[in-house]
Amino acid sequence: MAERIDLLVKGGQVVTAAHRACPVRGRTMQNLPVLEGGWVACAGGKVVAVGPEEKVREQVEITAKTEVIDAAGKVVTPGLIDPHTHLIFGGSREDEFYLRAQGADYMEIMEAGGGILSSVRATRAASLEELVETGRQRLRWMLELGVTTVECKSGYGLDLETELKQLEAVRILQREQPVELVPTFLGAHAWPPEYAGDHEGFVEFLLDTVLPAVKEQGVAEYVDVFTEKGVFSVEQSRRILQKAQELGFKLRMHADEMHSLGGAELAAELNAASADHLLMVSGQGIRALLESDVVPILLPGTAFTLRKPYAPARKMLAAGLPLALATDFNPGSCPTANLLLVMSIACLYVAMTPEEVFNAVTINAAHSLGRSQRLGSLEPGKQADLVIFAVDDYKKIPYYIGVNLAETVIKAGQVVVGN
Ligand code: NIG
Ligand code: FE
Repeated sequence: MAERIDLLVKGGQVVTAAHRACPVRGRTMQNLPVLEGGWVACAGGKVVAVGPEEKVREQVEITAKTEVIDAAGKVVTPGLIDPHTHLIFGGSREDEFYLRAQGADYMEIMEAGGGILSSVRATRAASLEELVETGRQRLRWMLELGVTTVECKSGYGLDLETELKQLEAVRILQREQPVELVPTFLGAHAWPPEYAGDHEGFVEFLLDTVLPAVKEQGVAEYVDVFTEKGVFSVEQSRRILQKAQELGFKLRMHADEMHSLGGAELAAELNAASADHLLMVSGQGIRALLESDVVPILLPGTAFTLRKPYAPARKMLAAGLPLALATDFNPGSCPTANLLLVMSIACLYVAMTPEEVFNAVTINAAHSLGRSQRLGSLEPGKQADLVIFAVDDYKKIPYYIGVNLAETVIKAGQVVVGN
């Protein structure tokens, strides 16, 4: 029997991003499944049929109660997914932004007690309510751009209380607004002032106290580490991530961002869900990733902001790797929450094609978050997360740099922006 539908988006250029095998890797990333004049029928928050009009009409029952949205002349995509952000932080760091613009170096600012540590001070000082309030505004910016799922890291507390406060803010926001949030514990983000002369002591504190407490509270799904020269070494990262794995967390990594340390190799060794940044990934790192299921996530907005060399996207794709893209939204190295802008930067500066870019922010991003069964493409059975863009071809979306073309955003079958 034909299923009664409550929502129909009809006649648009539908980027289904539907792929059998995911993540989409290497040359296959050039292949972006698109349907001209497609109908997307939804019921109960899920997609029930996608296809040309005649086919969808055969499969579903349209009633007087069905909400019909005419998308003729527009582009319909899956809800965009931002799989790497530092959404929750106190304060802001515009002073550093302008210092860097005048030539100051990111790591030098950090070593002088600014950078991440300046956000740590502001986040420790902020109330839970303040973190929720600013988080709410930032999620609204993202939702209005068509972003319906966002990974959110802690890491501006570096003490148990503030790390839990950040993750609690994520939990509260999940209950009150539509963007799906994926919480990640990033306690290993910098050395806190209390442990300035005792880095081993901080690693022990994370292992023995913080990780078990975060697990016990049930407030994080992933654990991430900033593996970097002067921050967490590969050996320290391995200990933290292994402990996290023992406790049942899934893993993500800030890998090979400023220096080629072997972060990608460690991500592969531990079978992390993702290895992110990779500006300085080595040939050996690429080979290690190829032999793993790790999804590499590029954050070209960070290289853009820090004016650093970009990750070798073409080399990684030529080797056959899958790629996802994310903003890295944070108060220091990348203060943009705009995934559409990051898509444009990816086309311009790492030579990704629009097809690769859309695969990167839909199905591959979903895969990196362990949600590809439910999110990341428009296929029967998947959650009805859709964006309608006010242009007639998806290639125009990264092209109109910095313009928000998202007109209607639908989360789990509900219109949450527009109309
Ligand atoms: O992903 N690299 C480490 N962490 C962030 C920056 C955080 C900050 O500057 O506040 C990043 O770039
Ligand atoms: Fe980051």
